[in-house]
Amino acid sequence: MNIYAHRGSSGTHPENTLAAFREAARLPIYGVEFDVHLTKDGELVVIHDETIARTSDSTGFVKDMTLAELKAFDFGSWFSDEFQDETIPLLQEVLEIFSETSHHLNIELKSDIFPYEGMAEKAVAMVQKMKLDARTVISSFDHEAVQTVKKIAPNIETAALFMEVLVDPLNYLRNIPADALHISLPSAVRPSMRNVVEDGVAVRVFTVNEEKYVETLNKVGITGIFTDYPEKMMIYLNRKS
Ligand code: G3P
Ligand code: MG
Repeated sequence: MNIYAHRGSSGTHPENTLAAFREAARLPIYGVEFDVHLTKDGELVVIHDETIARTSDSTGFVKDMTLAELKAFDFGSWFSDEFQDETIPLLQEVLEIFSETSHHLNIELKSDIFPYEGMAEKAVAMVQKMKLDARTVISSFDHEAVQTVKKIAPNIETAALFMEVLVDPLNYLRNIPADALHISLPSAVRPSMRNVVEDGVAVRVFTVNEEKYVETLNKVGITGIFTDYPEKMMIYLNRKS
């Protein structure tokens, strides 16, 4: 089962910061996941929420601030004083770390709340510029964005994200179309997953921080898990095999 560091190694480092990504890059795990928003001046930045309140020393919406304004804030101290120098990363800065490794990259487009115009196109252009097409999956809860990615870059893997328990997910995926399914932990063990797995579609599950779920997910045939504790999960899975 493939392990993805969720928002970098976010259980041990401040989520979606270069510190969290350097830690993930150091680990011999399969991949890493991170979330992308668009600034007022059209830059792709890596952060989970629409606002910076939870993960910085300031407040406000990402979409209302320029990159220069956002870069002035501290995105590490909320987690621990030792990370006070962390700033909001550009997508490019994160990709630069992983262009030196062989990790699989999951870029999650956070355009499901604010429909950031042109975001999917910009993300695709960045992946292509960095020549990371072959080891990137672009996912979103915004399935229109997933559709756009597939239209403009058919060679890049896409995934539809869901929180809900699904009925006939395989047909829905084919309609978008999307290559893979990224689904929440409770929904992953429902009967509807059987068809998807049997059809050979990659199913990855968020967020799996406890070892006790791994056995069940393995039995279902899940491809990968997103975890905030990639090193702990890696040690657990290595011990089991
Ligand atoms: O991409 C998997 C997972 O990150 C989706 O949920 O809210 O953690 O971005 P969230
Ligand atoms: Mg995410």
